[in-house]
This record gives sequence, C-alpha cells and structure tokens, in this order.
Amino acid sequence: MTEDLIAAAREAMGRAYAPYSGFSVGAAVRADNGRIYSGCNVENAAYPEGLCAEASAIAAMVNAGAQRLSEVCVMGKGDALVTPCGGCRQKIREFAVGSTAIHICGPDGIRMTTSLDELLPHSFGPENLK
Ligand code: THU
Repeated sequence: MTEDLIAAAREAMGRAYAPYSGFSVGAAVRADNGRIYSGCNVENAAYPEGLCAEASAIAAMVNAGAQRLSEVCVMGKGDALVTPCGGCRQKIREFAVGSTAIHICGPDGIRMTTSLDELLPHSFGPENLK
C-alpha cells in the first residue's frame, strides 16, 4: 500500500530542519527489500550545504544495504506541487527505472503521481558508464 509510504514521508516532514527557508519536506522510498526509508531536508547556515529530503531518504536506503527503489513519495506544504528538484531527480535515477512511480504529496496525501521518465527524460545513468 502506498499509504505506508505517505505516512513515512509525513513523519519525516515533521522532523525537517529548515530554519532558513521555513519549507519542510519529507520523502520516503520503498526499496526492493520491501522496506521503507525516509528522510527530511536538513538545511545549513552555509546555504548550499543543505540536503534535500529525497537525498536524505536515498542515503538511508543505501546505508541499510538496499540499492533499488520501486516507489518514491515527496511531501511538502503549500499550494504548489512539491516536485523533486533537478538534483534529486538525478539521485532517484541512480536507483530507479523509468517507470518508477513518484508520488507528489501534500499533507493530506497524493496530489499527483508521475514517473521518473516523465520527470527526467533522456536521462544519463549508470548504463552510460558501462
Ligand atoms: N527541498 C527538498 O528537500 N526537496 C525538493 O525536492 C525540493 C526542495 C528542500 C530544500 C530546501 O531545504 C527547501 O526545500 C527549500 O528549497
């Protein structure tokens, strides 16, 4: 169920460290081991050193020993869709396939479901280096 992924992203959003932007983001990924890994944005007084929620969730997944993900959920507040930034699209690309579902959520749930291929067409990935 996607509900468990959404709940994990919501919890992570609540742990965001975003004192500079005031914009809390939570992300959760479902790995091929069946488990969910989540992360939040972690900002820094040296602004460019801040970490996005998706990067944080992916790092948690890799540190747990998983390297494939089948579903992603990103959650933020406000009226606009909180779609992954360009850098995070590429980070998801490393561990996903084109059809991987990416759910864009508000606090109440899914607002849009898209795919990695839609967010990052003609992407560069690990296969390019083989
Ligand atoms: N942010 C994320 O965590 N993920 C995204 O995909 C978009 C932006 C964070 C970065 C920064 O801490 C805050 O949102 C405002 O840009």
